Amino acid sequence: MAVSDLDLVQAWKDVLSLSKLRAGEQVSLLASDDSNRQVIETARIAVGQMGGILTILTLPPMNGGVALSRDKSGFVGKTPLAGNAAALAALKASDLVIDTMLLLFSPEQAEVLQGGARMLLAVEPPEILLRMLPTAADGVRATAAAARLGRAKIFTATSKAGTDFRCAVGEYPVLRQQGFVDQRGGWDHWPSCLVATWPNEGTAEGTLVIDTGDILLPFKRYAREPIRLTVEAGFIVKIEGGFEAEFLRRYIESFDDTDAYAMAHVGWGLHDRAHWTTLGLYDREATIGMDARSFSGNFLWSSGPNNEAGGKRDTPCHMDIPLRACSVSLDGEAMTIDGRLVA
Ligand SMILES: [Fe+2]
Repeated sequence: MAVSDLDLVQAWKDVLSLSKLRAGEQVSLLASDDSNRQVIETARIAVGQMGGILTILTLPPMNGGVALSRDKSGFVGKTPLAGNAAALAALKASDLVIDTMLLLFSPEQAEVLQGGARMLLAVEPPEILLRMLPTAADGVRATAAAARLGRAKIFTATSKAGTDFRCAVGEYPVLRQQGFVDQRGGWDHWPSCLVATWPNEGTAEGTLVIDTGDILLPFKRYAREPIRLTVEAGFIVKIEGGFEAEFLRRYIESFDDTDAYAMAHVGWGLHDRAHWTTLGLYDREATIGMDARSFSGNFLWSSGPNNEAGGKRDTPCHMDIPLRACSVSLDGEAMTIDGRLVA
């Protein structure tokens, strides 16, 4: 359903205010062929009204010829910024970068952040941006969860469906997503509210059961039967089940990359305006699935790259899999119980 330019301009102003945009700051807006025009046009107006000095960088599209789907997260880390010194220099000279392309997992994004720019990813369609408009309360919730995760040593997740997973944490930083970016060198994603970190190398182990109805991203499908994965020493070593398991196995195999089997971030969703059901109501190409990644109380685990956390793995194969009805604990203290957030 369409949203008005007026509403989206106001939403941008809310997000940019939370992101502490000040008059006179350098703002770069990164766009490409499949960026949403209304998102770009309303961002232009909002930045202008708030006194930001705006540069719009329009780069060639990326990865269309190699990705197995049209989802932006279906082939990650390779961007048209590679070798584009002029565009990279502009981003590094910015106070705030608005990314409508998805630079996540790229070495160029890391370089821009190291220079101190704050970056906000915004690739969902306008109506999802509006419905999941971040609030200061989201920031408080995400910050509190991130602080607790930052003190944790052992992360566990269990479920009645058979998930029994554990890993040591602390080697990699905590990822806090609150929907706006208010710190120098910070990265965030509108819309989102979740926390995660990456298992210490070699420590992830156990069983992950994707139950009927759980969501696989970037497939953007609900599993129609359980899939059972065995994790040993940080890597997925077995994927068992029926058709769903075979599909997942064959998809990962197609990348021909052992790093695609690595466990990546683990964490839980905190967004109270995100819904497990939303994905089922959308055309698959109309969303990247941030409802699924961030709905409150999910156990979101992932596979593949960890370079965005400072690790060495940069495989383009990245699965995000939010499980329902799991109990996530840190050092034995419950963060979620059966898929419900502990206050
Ligand atoms: Fe992810």
